Amino acid sequence: MIRSIQAAQRLDSRGNPTVQVDVTIDRGTFRALVPSGASTGANEAVELRDEKPSVYGGKGVETAVQKVEQVIAPVLIESGLRVGTDQKKIDALLKDLDGTKNKSNLGANAILGVSMACARAGAASLDIPLYEFLRRESGAQKPYVMPVPFFNVLNGGVHSGNKMAFQETMIAPVGATSITEAVRMGSEVYQQLKKVVVKKFGPAAAGIGDEGGFAPPISQPHEALDLLVQATADCGYSDRVKFAIDPASSEFFRNGKYNLRFKESTSDNRTPKQLMELYHSLLQNYPIILLEDPFAENDWNSWTEFNKECNLELVGDDLLVTNTKYVQEANDKKACDSMLLKINQIGTITEAISAANLAYSFNWSVFVSHRSGETTDDFIADIVTGLRTGHLKSGAPCRGERVAKYNRLMDIETELKAKGETCLYAGTQFRVAHKI
Ligand code: PGA
Ligand code: ZN
Repeated sequence: MIRSIQAAQRLDSRGNPTVQVDVTIDRGTFRALVPSGASTGANEAVELRDEKPSVYGGKGVETAVQKVEQVIAPVLIESGLRVGTDQKKIDALLKDLDGTKNKSNLGANAILGVSMACARAGAASLDIPLYEFLRRESGAQKPYVMPVPFFNVLNGGVHSGNKMAFQETMIAPVGATSITEAVRMGSEVYQQLKKVVVKKFGPAAAGIGDEGGFAPPISQPHEALDLLVQATADCGYSDRVKFAIDPASSEFFRNGKYNLRFKESTSDNRTPKQLMELYHSLLQNYPIILLEDPFAENDWNSWTEFNKECNLELVGDDLLVTNTKYVQEANDKKACDSMLLKINQIGTITEAISAANLAYSFNWSVFVSHRSGETTDDFIADIVTGLRTGHLKSGAPCRGERVAKYNRLMDIETELKAKGETCLYAGTQFRVAHKI
């Protein structure tokens, strides 16, 4: 039985307000904190903000907090639904209570906080870890497969103040043998990258962006990748660490063209065909294994064309917004072969799991993701383990809200091994970990 549901306005990693929810059952009180994006997809579920310019610059979430306490709490408590056994019904109730297609009534931030806290309380009520609860919810099989962490070590786009148009350049230790070793390798490359950046651009260039990666004064993707080549080679990891890019290209797509200098007063407009050629040349010259949002959310033709001719993992973020409707459409159009899973894009845990399962049914991969505005909540570490998605991105191995997820994954690995459970590492199989 749910005894009470309380909410509060707290801060995220960018210093903006976010929603915190506490669900109390007999076992105790279980908390969730909601993340928030900057390069958001147009079709994401709506994050309710107060829009009062004099308070937190309009970004307050007091309305969402009130929706939790005054609208959701009485109905959910009265419903008699039980955490642990009724997560799907709880999430369906939240969706129905909102009544809109994009959760604009109660706010996806209000709804997700309740959904996450109920899942956490549910796991505790059954005396199982959250990842095991989520595994059962999703119907995923054992053994557990720990994910390859994709560390975003160079920040650009709307996540940093440099001129780099591409938002994220990531390193992925696919050649590690465990998540613990992968984190060590990622951290070593990150620390070496700092030295490479400082040597090349001076100490002021060691400042970091929203996701903990460095943001040196570079503007071209090959400059970012060259820095990674150097740092991984210096560490002796050239064969075991691969690269990935999320240009987050919806951010610089205007009038049918991609402006690679969108953060400057000049412009460098590329047609989709020219951008495609740029990607092909990068893929030829660097060990890139994954590309996310290479084209804008409404540039479907480019996605389909590119997907025909490339064989690396092509991930839809803004394109799919963790929503079965767009996952289905992308499969019909053969636009990509992987879904980015961001829980706040859709607003309930059950719907996020449904989107992942639909993606799996098309033989796609699923890539779990944090948001650029994060919290210390480590929920997604349990999702990636429970759903066996084989890889996740949670920023650089730096900043508390980023490392909270990596630390939790190492805890899970230690716990599983101590229990004698089979616990594999996805490694080079990261795209098909759910089938191992
Ligand atoms: P966001 O960035 O959280 O600002 O949307 C992450 C991403 O684009 O993958
Ligand atoms: Zn993205």
